[in-house]
Amino acid sequence: MEVVVKENYDEISKLAAQMIADLIRKKKNAVLGLATGSTPLGTYKELVRMHKEEGLDFSGIITFNLDEYVGLPPLHPESYRYFMNTNLFDQINVKKENTNVPDGNAEDQDLSCQEYEDKIKKMGGLDIQLLGIGGNGHIAFNEPGSSLSSRTRTKTLTEKTRQDNARFFNNDITLVPKYAVTMGIGTIMDAGEIILLANGTNKADAVAQAVEGPVSSHCPASALQSHKMVTMIFDKEAASKLKDHYPTDPVRNKKV
Ligand code: PGA
Repeated sequence: MEVVVKENYDEISKLAAQMIADLIRKKKNAVLGLATGSTPLGTYKELVRMHKEEGLDFSGIITFNLDEYVGLPPLHPESYRYFMNTNLFDQINVKKENTNVPDGNAEDQDLSCQEYEDKIKKMGGLDIQLLGIGGNGHIAFNEPGSSLSSRTRTKTLTEKTRQDNARFFNNDITLVPKYAVTMGIGTIMDAGEIILLANGTNKADAVAQAVEGPVSSHCPASALQSHKMVTMIFDKEAASKLKDHYPTDPVRNKKV
């Protein structure tokens, strides 16, 4: 596990985008695991810039998103399908049919979750997975207490997560869905490489638990400590409760 601490949000976004772009340039048909929420927005903005200004080519790329609310129509402005279309897919040359978001409206949720897992496998597995972290340590919608070997399934959202996300629903928690379909921690851990991003003081406790606390389902992100290739990129505020000191760049960026 590599932890790097950058000066600000702009720097963490640019580093994450650069790491994803490096992979896309090396592997034209890379399988990207993508996230929603406020955290990855800067990364997507930078990837869009790279596409428009540097010709970064997404035409062979396949994507799988982490999660989706249950019960929101796909065109609802807070659905994660809508978020991804608006903030990334509509602005790059990825083929829409190669983009996958869990179906929050499937009649048979168990079957739909199994099909999502099967499709990831069929495509050769996730080459890289981008993650944010919840204020309660969740990754995707794997809330505290989630099995560290869980697979894609429906989860009940905690009160804390619904409160955190109420800002996207007119600050009205009653409008925030109660359930979500989410890749499991086991699904995420199968990715070849993982990048976790966090910024802001409201993430500092979760970051400290994830990086320097014990591996525990109480803090789902702590499972990443045992992943073979994970880079955690924080701004100074998110890193403010870490006890150790960490470098400002991953080893791959160092000239040796
Ligand atoms: P955020 O959410 O990026 O909107 O802070 C992260 C998460 O809950 O995983």
